[in-house]
Amino acid sequence: MQVYLNGQYVDDSEARVSIDDRGFLFADGVYEVVHIYGQRPFEWDRHMARLERSLAGIGLEAVNVQELAAVRDRLLAQLEHPEASLYIQITRGTQRRSHAPPPPGVLKPTVLMWVRPVDPIAPETVRRGVKAITVPDDRWAKVWIKTIGLLPNVLAKGRALERGAFDAIFVRDGMVTEATSANVFRVKDGVIFTAPVTNYILPGITRAVVIEMARGAGYSVVEEPFSAELLYDADEVFLTGTLTEVLPVTEVDGRAIGTEAGPVALHLLDLLHRRALGA
Ligand SMILES: Cc1ncc(COP(=O)(O)O)c(C=O)c1O
Repeated sequence: MQVYLNGQYVDDSEARVSIDDRGFLFADGVYEVVHIYGQRPFEWDRHMARLERSLAGIGLEAVNVQELAAVRDRLLAQLEHPEASLYIQITRGTQRRSHAPPPPGVLKPTVLMWVRPVDPIAPETVRRGVKAITVPDDRWAKVWIKTIGLLPNVLAKGRALERGAFDAIFVRDGMVTEATSANVFRVKDGVIFTAPVTNYILPGITRAVVIEMARGAGYSVVEEPFSAELLYDADEVFLTGTLTEVLPVTEVDGRAIGTEAGPVALHLLDLLHRRALGA
């Protein structure tokens, strides 16, 4: 499939980035992932607003994200699959290796975009739920920037897989922050809880949409810090994310949370699908 790289559309096998790219050398860049449902990008405007915030967070305001919509449409035109993920990565650009970022405007940022098919999460996986472990949140203090520097997330995900779990849930100072590529919710006595937006979580687009939909459906949603112990005691735990959607978690650190997906998570997943598919 064709990808977009710095103004050109090229076959993905042909696309090349310099060894001097600051993204390659320093993870000096940011990204977004947008879920495409039947050619329709889900919550495009919110993703672009977050991309702008991430770019501002690393001092790369010069990139005009409005121009990415035309690239998106051209990439989508070649898509035949009903579902896809659209990836956008912007790095500070290419320069002989030096920690010092040059003043704004000196480098031409590297802009990469692609669309690749994804398959829906198997209904059986959703019904059974997944296992998670908790791990110390040893990431930096600007997690709100969607940086391509994801090594702590990669290592935590690897640790989860080694232990036979699907994902790792980060815990900072005793409080749950988020998972390696998703936000974390718990349900107790019909009330939905999730960590508040601070610099220590990525403000998930799906998180925001799920909170809105849940409130619209009459649930009360509380955004306040909670401990890992409260996960063990929850009636339901679920993850939210662009490709994760609403994914029930039925085991945390070896402790069972229910026996299968809970009704609140399934209800919210249904609402999400309806919204995404325009039903
Ligand atoms: C660390 C982290 N938290 C949360 C999320 C969920 O965000 P969104 O719903 O915008 O995909 C992601 C998504 O990649 C993530 O990487």
